Amino acid sequence: MANASMFEDFYQVPDLKFDIQKLRGDLKDILEKKKFNTLGISHFGAIMMNQIPGDKSSTTGHNVRGVYWTKPDDTGKEVQRDQKIDEEKYCELVPEFRNTYFEEVYNKLKKKFKLGRVRILQKEPRSTLSWHKDPEPRLHIPIITNPGCSMVIENVAKHLPADGKVWITNNTKYHNFFNGGEQNRIHIVACMLEDRFNK
Ligand SMILES: [Fe+2]
Repeated sequence: MANASMFEDFYQVPDLKFDIQKLRGDLKDILEKKKFNTLGISHFGAIMMNQIPGDKSSTTGHNVRGVYWTKPDDTGKEVQRDQKIDEEKYCELVPEFRNTYFEEVYNKLKKKFKLGRVRILQKEPRSTLSWHKDPEPRLHIPIITNPGCSMVIENVAKHLPADGKVWITNNTKYHNFFNGGEQNRIHIVACMLEDRFNK
């Protein structure tokens, strides 16, 4: 039986909703100008929405990914992957997003929450992530999704609909995301520098 506590690692922000049609329209324009950065990693794709002021290199290479922990094999031993990011320094909108609806969304989120990097993340059809945990919770705004997309935190799976609403998820616990559809899933994902889950 589902009960409210099962979903405590998935928090829907009340009284905050963005215009999903505007997001989809402006995403189309952005994707004509910018490509997803894959780092050559299968089923990973990211576009940075913010940067360290004046530093274009902060939007490239491993800056689009960041440190995480995973348990890669049957020993169950946890290992650290990728590199730590100076999240607090990310506070300037990437120029290509200026005068788009993404700028309005970014400014509104920044007013309400303490954020680090804000990215557009793509999940390809029939793909998952590694089983991993991140240094901090994440804020999600689904832009394009399908019924076969779910986030799994420990043993609870939840579909996050693309209806303009905003979710905060407890990525400090082990989690994954799968896209079981036949279309790319695209979310805005922000690193939360305030932690509502670990107090
Ligand atoms: Fe994650």
